[in-house]
Amino acid sequence: MEFSQRLQPLQSNVFADMDRAKTLARAAGKNVIDLSLGSSDLPTAAHITDAIAHSLSDPKTHGYLLFNGTKSFREAAAIWYEQKFGISVNPETEVLPLIGSQEGTAHLPLAVLNPGDFALLLDPGYPSHAGGVYLAGGQIYPMPLLAENQFLPVFEDIPQAVLAQSKMMVLSYPHNPTTAIAPLAFFDKAVAFCREHRLVLVHDFPYVDLVFDDSGLEAAGSEENRKLMAPSIFEADRDKSVSIEFFTLSKSYNMGGFRVGYAIGNPEIIQALRQVKAAVDFNQYEGILNGAIAALTGPQDTVKTSVETFRKRRDTFVRALQNIGWQVPIPPATMYVWAKLPEPWARDSVKFCSELVQSTGVAASPGAGFGKSGEGYVRFALVESPEILAEAVRKIAEFFN
Ligand SMILES: Cc1ncc(COP(=O)(O)O)c(C=O)c1O
Repeated sequence: MEFSQRLQPLQSNVFADMDRAKTLARAAGKNVIDLSLGSSDLPTAAHITDAIAHSLSDPKTHGYLLFNGTKSFREAAAIWYEQKFGISVNPETEVLPLIGSQEGTAHLPLAVLNPGDFALLLDPGYPSHAGGVYLAGGQIYPMPLLAENQFLPVFEDIPQAVLAQSKMMVLSYPHNPTTAIAPLAFFDKAVAFCREHRLVLVHDFPYVDLVFDDSGLEAAGSEENRKLMAPSIFEADRDKSVSIEFFTLSKSYNMGGFRVGYAIGNPEIIQALRQVKAAVDFNQYEGILNGAIAALTGPQDTVKTSVETFRKRRDTFVRALQNIGWQVPIPPATMYVWAKLPEPWARDSVKFCSELVQSTGVAASPGAGFGKSGEGYVRFALVESPEILAEAVRKIAEFFN
């Protein structure tokens, strides 16, 4: 059978290769320690699952949710954002419920790009950002993220010819996979750049809460809710002139499997994305939206507990790697460790990861899977207990020896 050309760039996927390597390792009797997926192993809090369970027995939640999700969900998202960042959000025109933030970021290019238009993406970056652009028939200009630039893109390096054909830029900080945080001054620059070049500025913000207390950030937020926070794009684009920001319940509230997120942004961009979604889905199940409302409006101490859990894991893992002579920087945010590969793997992260899983059962993500500039690195997701992470490092040491 012949399928569309737009599927072609989606064919090569190093993560699918890694899945095969994991399956082979399991078949060979290895006990696989899977640090390759950024899927939280922590449970969803009981007040959230209770809200979903309660909804399940209410037949009023069983039908289609047309148009825009529920008003109560949009309001909960707007209030959550306002309390955190002190910037007001109109729940009717500036919030759009999503079936996970990946769904939204992958669909947005269909609303923004004409075939052949460029999207400016972070390299390395989250693979579905590129996937969405390919599905929309767009072209990608990868903006390299280098350690010497604090993993921030250099806008001056984008060729004029590309810029002239560009319609959108996608940022995402705290950044998966490099763990970098962007300072607000960088967002100021990004907003000015996107205004000047008439680009839609997309900020994917799943790790809004996953920032560690030694990250170097200063506490910010409203009086009653001062805490460490990575900046939101709307702190740089207060009148929401060019930006849309994507949020998810997957990370802060350990709800990855429930598939629920939302976008906040410029009303015209929100409306354009809503039009695309109206053609492809009928929104998330209302019971899950009710769980998300419980998460956003309920006690937030579970978020703090999760961050503390990931901080302890990070400390154990990084210290153990350093003890075996692998010098990796301490991540300021996210649930990952981004480690530069030593020789002889410095130019072949796929080889390193497949050999590592086959010989030890430890699975990590090859940096090359996140883009060309990710080559030479490997990403470990901190999705196991400190004891298992320490065991993984013991196995990595054996592998090196
Ligand atoms: C940058 C980024 N965006 C989006 C997602 C997926 O979020 P969701 O579960 O809301 O689709 C992830 C998950 O790892 C991510 O790292």
